[in-house]
Amino acid sequence: MERAVRLKVNGQEHRVLVPPHRTLLEVLREDLGLVGTKHGCELGECGVCTVLVDGEPALSCLVLAHEVEGHEVTTVEGLATDGQLHPVQRAFVESGALQCGYCTPAMVLVTKALLDRVPEPSGEQVREAVAGVFCRCTGYVKILEAVQAAARRLREARA
Ligand code: FES
Ligand code: FES
Repeated sequence: MERAVRLKVNGQEHRVLVPPHRTLLEVLREDLGLVGTKHGCELGECGVCTVLVDGEPALSCLVLAHEVEGHEVTTVEGLATDGQLHPVQRAFVESGALQCGYCTPAMVLVTKALLDRVPEPSGEQVREAVAGVFCRCTGYVKILEAVQAAARRLREARA
């Protein structure tokens, strides 16, 4: 039986009618058209479905839509402002930290979550933050560089 669920995604309120087992990933992509959140293993292993829930990374394939009622969901579509890429997105582009791009929305979001908590992360903290997102293409070196470039960019913006 379907029930109405109120979701707040990227600052916008949505009301969707969903069966109890419908995942946040399915609602984001299929009901709200937010296809930046990628569909991967659906088993909690690849991390490409990562979104932020109240600023913390969460695997949207493992979260039921009704579980995030009353919480703030952020997807990659919510990062740019006034048509300008978020500094983390810009750092990924300028560092060449993407190839096919399938993992990139999740990488960008885990980076944002890390840098919101830790403005000057160690290499170890960066590796830990991105470890849950599987990238088949880049070998991770440029991704690690992009995270540090984003950290510098954000620190400069705050200074
Ligand atoms: S789709 Fe792979 S962890 Fe969610
Ligand atoms: S850039 Fe292709 S999976 Fe990461």
